[in-house]
Amino acid sequence: MRVLSGIQPSGRLHLGNYFGAIRPQIAMQQEHECFYFIATYHALTSLADRQLLEEYTREVAMGYLALGLDPERTVFYRQTDVPEVTELAWILSCVTPMGLLQRCHSFKDKIAQGITPSHGLFAYPVLQAADILIMGSHLVPVGQDQKQHIEVAQDIQAKFNLAFGSEALVRPEPYIREEVAVIPGVDGRKMSKSYDNTIELFGPEKAIRKKIMSLKTDSTPVEAPKDPGQCNVFALLRLFADPSETAEWEQRYRQGGVGYGEVKKRLFELYVEVLGPARERYEQLKQNTHEVYRILADGAARARNVANDTMRKVRQDCGLIRADAS
Ligand code: ADP
Ligand code: TRP
Repeated sequence: MRVLSGIQPSGRLHLGNYFGAIRPQIAMQQEHECFYFIATYHALTSLADRQLLEEYTREVAMGYLALGLDPERTVFYRQTDVPEVTELAWILSCVTPMGLLQRCHSFKDKIAQGITPSHGLFAYPVLQAADILIMGSHLVPVGQDQKQHIEVAQDIQAKFNLAFGSEALVRPEPYIREEVAVIPGVDGRKMSKSYDNTIELFGPEKAIRKKIMSLKTDSTPVEAPKDPGQCNVFALLRLFADPSETAEWEQRYRQGGVGYGEVKKRLFELYVEVLGPARERYEQLKQNTHEVYRILADGAARARNVANDTMRKVRQDCGLIRADAS
């Protein structure tokens, strides 16, 4: 199966990205042909800062590599380096009903936040559909919040093939791990850079500790029994701890006698234990960004080959070029 996913370089990587998206994506490398990319064009819908875009792009690249992306096995690239996706996005726009995009939650949420929408923000799901469809992807591993965008890609694929009597585009399916669908942030809402409630993957240890110690909890006294299902700290701890440790904490919560401070301290220890090796690799990559850019260039060449094959068929099926053109 061909697996594809993208991530916007619009901020620093956090635990929500890791458990909700990056970790399952990396695990899929063993069994599938994976394409992972950095969605630079998408980031332009919310970021107009040359230096920051460049910095976040490099950080996302180093982050994925440090967390175990294997560039021999997996095609890893920047969206910018496959400009054919923007051509496909235009073609797909012409078969995409406005109503489909008007219904998108993420667009409606942005408007509700008071953002004046650009055309790019409105058309964002069409570009995402192009990312997916241009590589002939079967499976798209993402967090719960992206499910609707994958469904839009399915609709657009069907509309394109029907409109042009084409078989050029393959139907993609979302792949969402329910147990990590929504990772909570320090305030208990979904962890997201737009809520400023994230715990970063690669920030300085001291700042991470402070964030973890500031996780919001209720005011149940230490002695009282607690419901682990209602606690943010537990929700994060269970992601890091092995099943037997998780079961022990669960029992202690229910018995009473556990203070949130104690759980937070353990969570910080686990964070360091589990992410320590990746954090070290990240520091090494920082000293060797040449290698990072070389990997992205190699991935771009491989991705572009696939994109060009799809585009030849798409252009022919639309009548943009002659059917016998090679
Ligand atoms: P953010 O919400 O911080 O802007 P992105 O939208 O860039 O994060 O998310 C990148 C990937 O990480 C997506 O696949 C998304 O579903 C996943 N993701 C982000 N935050 C979470 C979370 N809190 N829980 C689960 N998955 C998440
Ligand atoms: N919209 C996705 C996000 O914010 C990023 C993305 C862009 C993506 N293109 C994609 C994800 C294609 C999966 C497939 O997380």
